[in-house]
Amino acid sequence: MSDIPDSDAAGLPARAAALDLLAAALGGRTGLDEGLSRPALGALEPRDRAFARALVMATLRHLGPIDAALQGRLKKPPPERMVHILRLGVAQAFLLETPAHAAVATSVALAGRQKGGDKFKGLVNAVLRGLVREPPALGDPDLLAPSWLYARWRAAYGEAEARAIAAVIAQAPQTDLSPKAGADAAALAAELEGEMLPGGTVRTARRGDLAGWPGFAEGRWWVQDASAAVPARLLAARPGETVLDLCAAPGGKTLQLAAAGAQVAAVDRSAERLKRLAENLKRLGLAAETVAADATAWPDSRTFDAVLLDAPCSATGTFRRHPDVLWAVKPGDVAALAAMQGKLLDAAARRVKPGGRLAYCVCSLEPEEGEAQVAAFLARSPDFAIDPADAGEGGAPEASLRPDGTLRILPHHRDGGTDGFYVARLRRA
Ligand SMILES: C[S@@+](CC[C@H](N)C(=O)[O-])C[C@H]1O[C@@H](n2cnc3c(N)ncnc32)[C@H](O)[C@@H]1O
Repeated sequence: MSDIPDSDAAGLPARAAALDLLAAALGGRTGLDEGLSRPALGALEPRDRAFARALVMATLRHLGPIDAALQGRLKKPPPERMVHILRLGVAQAFLLETPAHAAVATSVALAGRQKGGDKFKGLVNAVLRGLVREPPALGDPDLLAPSWLYARWRAAYGEAEARAIAAVIAQAPQTDLSPKAGADAAALAAELEGEMLPGGTVRTARRGDLAGWPGFAEGRWWVQDASAAVPARLLAARPGETVLDLCAAPGGKTLQLAAAGAQVAAVDRSAERLKRLAENLKRLGLAAETVAADATAWPDSRTFDAVLLDAPCSATGTFRRHPDVLWAVKPGDVAALAAMQGKLLDAAARRVKPGGRLAYCVCSLEPEEGEAQVAAFLARSPDFAIDPADAGEGGAPEASLRPDGTLRILPHHRDGGTDGFYVARLRRA
């Protein structure tokens, strides 16, 4: 296998980039985003860059079944980098359209290029050839999520729902856009060969650099998952109302609130992420006050007609675009994040005028960050009550409406998938 045909050797830079990207993605919570913005990836030919990205995303979307298939063939685990090479090899052979011989040959070559990698070339060759002879099943929903997360979903939602949630992990998502208020959403959907979803989101299967898509430069839309657009719609900000967006960056919800004509104050503790929010406002021709501050200690005495808190969370509902999150989040994270969410919810509540609205949301599938968070808040805040949503309100899937009027949007609630979210609209007495 050391004689690699020229055409396969030509693909090595893309595979090497994919290896670095996979290592980054599995190395920590923000690794995938950091890896995607590395200059080395940017320096690749666009075709190679697209291949590297597609390969890593396919690998991450099937990591559980890929690892299960490898485990059956590894007596003892080789160094982590070799495991990554094997994972990428399996993804190429069975998930992308790479011919099996090229997937094996380039994986062996990549192994040989790693420090001390020569002695693992035989292993990589044998394991991948074995799998090519007996192809593994890579779509088993029971294996697509880490077992501890899957067990949590089963406990929270039941076996059938947990399987349905997990099945979405394997699906590559389309792109959802929020048209700016006043933009002709139907015309935009037609231009982008997309479809209109309830609530006004446009969903398109288009790929590639979205800065070149119709309407981007003119600020006619921004990227926002259909579920992520629901909380601000439930808040239904009116022109001239004062609205506080807490934990606002990069600003999808701020844009919705500003586009509705509200006077928005957008607070986030990350000055870096607020820069992206400011860029987004500028491109859309919208205005909002931006404040870099810790929301629990913001020295400002104003109260607002409406407050939106999109709290930092485990983000397990975002696995469609961030499959790495499933593997980065650890069991102890949920409780630590839930404690922070409680403090933020109290801080948000203090800013709501009497009679005002408070929307709380998280892109998490974990009840401690959603249902339990709001139940605990209501128990200690007698002046707040749930303002129940109607079925389908704000474009939310009807199946997401809970008996108490809050929303638990699960990824399979929409054909083609949607981000998992919990949303509660509350009202101050
Ligand atoms: C889920 S993201 C917000 C997404 C945003 N609402 C949107 O729609 O684009 C959570 C945000 O909370 C911010 N954050 C975390 N802890 C915070 C705190 N104590 N005070 C203010 N912002 C915080 C993070 O910097 C991050 O930008």
